[in-house]
Amino acid sequence: MSVPKSLAIIMDGNGRWAKAQGKPRTYGHKVGAENVEKICRACDDLGIKYLTIYAFSTENWKRPETEVKTLMSLLNTYLNKCIKTCMRDNMRFKIIGDKTGLSKELQNTISRLEDVSGKNTGLTLVIAINYGSRDEMRRAFIKASERILSEGKEIRDITEEDITNALDTEGIPDPDFMIRTSGEERLSNFLMWQLSYSEFYFTDVAWPAFDEEELKKAISVYENRHRRFGGV
Ligand code: FPP
Repeated sequence: MSVPKSLAIIMDGNGRWAKAQGKPRTYGHKVGAENVEKICRACDDLGIKYLTIYAFSTENWKRPETEVKTLMSLLNTYLNKCIKTCMRDNMRFKIIGDKTGLSKELQNTISRLEDVSGKNTGLTLVIAINYGSRDEMRRAFIKASERILSEGKEIRDITEEDITNALDTEGIPDPDFMIRTSGEERLSNFLMWQLSYSEFYFTDVAWPAFDEEELKKAISVYENRHRRFGGV
């Protein structure tokens, strides 16, 4: 088996990693954001075509206001930087999640970045912001229903493909492999439809410390798995 074409990562453990060094949680997010750039380069070098990362969930709004502000500001800074570097890196960007819940400034940054990088052919980085899988599916069911009715058909005619095409990830292949860092072993409302047949990998290493070597270790585990899609 070769490297996964499509990889998903739950970047967990920024806060615990920072606390272990006597630093504020926000410092962990800052180093975590820097690590995103390094792992993108490593994925591209390995030949991975799609990377989907969980940056901010629909539940993350419940965190202390200063932490939410730091995360939003890190995201805006990172995405603005990508507007300048995406052509050099040949990277394409797609944001999934409910964008209407984001600030106007962030929405503008996102639409500029998606526009300017839209035709690039290198790594596609899919960033989940204000994302929850249940919320995505709810919105997709509504969209699929509206589409089917507009075609003069009935709700019961909706196929799995119609739902796949109504999700935020439309056009992005389902992840072959999902990595979660920092010891927790759950999905936390991430890509529940898309991860139906993916291989999972959990590591105790926190996200800010998850480097290229750790990524290669994870990929070598994937390469030794025998994937099943329900058949024999
Ligand atoms: C989990 O750590 C991580 C997050 C909630 C957000 C991930 C965000 C980043 C890596 C930075 C911004 C992203 C980009 C794309 C620039 P945690 O705070 O839940 O850690 P803990 O479980 O140790 O508390």
